[in-house]
Amino acid sequence: MPNLFRHPIKKAYRLQGDQIGNKRDNFACEMPKQVRHDVLFFLVKNYLKIMAVDVLLGLQWGDEGKGKIVDVLSAGYDLIARFQGGPNAGHTLEFDGKKFVLNTIPSGIFFENTMNLIGNGVVIDPITLKKEIDKLKDAGHDLLAKKNLQIAKKAHLIIPTHQLLDAASEKKMGEGKIGSTLKGIGPTYMDKTGRNGLRIGDITLPDFKERYQKLADKHTSMLQALYGEVPDFSEREAAFFEAIEFLKQFPLVDSEHLVNEYIKQGKKILAEGAQGTMLDIDFGSYPFVTSSNTTTAGACTGLGIAPNKIGDVIGIFKAYCTRVGGGPFPTELDNEVGEELRKIGHEFGAVSGRPRRTGWIDLPALKYAIMLNGVTELVMTKADVLSGFDKIYACTHYNYNGEEIDYMPYDICSVMPVPVYKEIDGWNEDLTGITELSEIPDRLKSYIIFLEKELEVPIKYLSVGPDRKQTLVLPV
Ligand code: GDP
Ligand code: IMO
Ligand code: MG
Repeated sequence: MPNLFRHPIKKAYRLQGDQIGNKRDNFACEMPKQVRHDVLFFLVKNYLKIMAVDVLLGLQWGDEGKGKIVDVLSAGYDLIARFQGGPNAGHTLEFDGKKFVLNTIPSGIFFENTMNLIGNGVVIDPITLKKEIDKLKDAGHDLLAKKNLQIAKKAHLIIPTHQLLDAASEKKMGEGKIGSTLKGIGPTYMDKTGRNGLRIGDITLPDFKERYQKLADKHTSMLQALYGEVPDFSEREAAFFEAIEFLKQFPLVDSEHLVNEYIKQGKKILAEGAQGTMLDIDFGSYPFVTSSNTTTAGACTGLGIAPNKIGDVIGIFKAYCTRVGGGPFPTELDNEVGEELRKIGHEFGAVSGRPRRTGWIDLPALKYAIMLNGVTELVMTKADVLSGFDKIYACTHYNYNGEEIDYMPYDICSVMPVPVYKEIDGWNEDLTGITELSEIPDRLKSYIIFLEKELEVPIKYLSVGPDRKQTLVLPV
């Protein structure tokens, strides 16, 4: 695979080498000043990277396969830290014939020597978190015994009335609803920014119950005033307090200190994103978004790390595209081809079970996501799902108000950009069993090269099935 465009410094080094007749022994002394600077910069940058936090996040509308890839990479990290979102996330992992869906727990939980942290930017539903922990215990992964999960004191709590508010708000919106997972995410982040929220660190305070009651009362009066009813939530409330007691057994930590101490000690940290860039509260397809910053910047605020501590940014995308819930989706295939993609790719929400909307890959949206996140390497998942499609399509531009544009316009929600496609020859080979690079079909190689040229970032990992083992590392 040609990779000249991948490492400008290596390229400069090689070109200079050629110019001086490949005299490799005295290369250093003959190296021109600019190249010397470049090499020094490269070395320093890579040294600093050792003291940095890598980030893995979704570049589309979520469900790109983050859980699977974090699990694949976890063995190489000392700490996996979720930095935003909540139980609206469903991260699927498969290995040894077993399948797990994690909502709040970081995807590094299956590795012996990897610590896992639920960061301050996450919103926690104690009931869901307890269920996750119980399920893992039933499957032989006792997190209390393993002591491999810590929770940031500053993470906010989702209380039962947050979910009622979410449901009531969606019901009121009718056809124009966001398509929320109804996990109480929006109302909880509203209370966080509105400075009313409860944090998990509060559960040990003597007046926690009064604090809870004050917030719940506020919510019930809002529900009554805005929606005219307050559904019964007594059962859920009882489960909430039971889960709170259960969670007291886990270390509640000042996670910003923990993370920065890990950095100081040169330990390796991977920040795990939830949702995807196009669902970011600031830059996504607003208002059809979630309520947190799903981008690299969110890792800084969601974990308490300075921007200059960010190392590699691993951006993950599907070989096509999906979205679950409402909102614009320019490359959506509302036809048999889309149905085929949904069927072959098992595109049903890991949290809600809703059918995911499907479409072709959207390069203007991906380029936007790469720019916002500072992506340094890419992961392409679900390439196997495209096997057998005679032709596949990549949206390279949009037609928008009579103009051809190659960026995501502001008003995507009222005027839908019309995709302009490049037709690409598909491949027929089944990819799910391949383990060697030489087994990658030529047409898939061409697709990879085409995407790398368009996106100007190397694709480092290729995922060809849901299992941990169905992952190939591409030469960079
Ligand atoms: P996440 O939210 O980004 O972690 O993704 P989800 O778990 O919600 O959705 C991704 C789905 O695709 C899950 O069912 C994964 O098991 C599955 N998956 C991940 N990578 C691949 C792949 O390369 N091929 C196939 N066929 N399935 C994959
Ligand atoms: P992971 O981490 C896909 C979508 C919802 C809805 C919108 C707002 O598994 O990729 P919310 O519950 O946040 O109020 O919903 O965002 N959404 C997701 N879509 N994957 C997710 O997470 C999602 N989390 C939220 O469907 O359209
Ligand atoms: Mg998911």
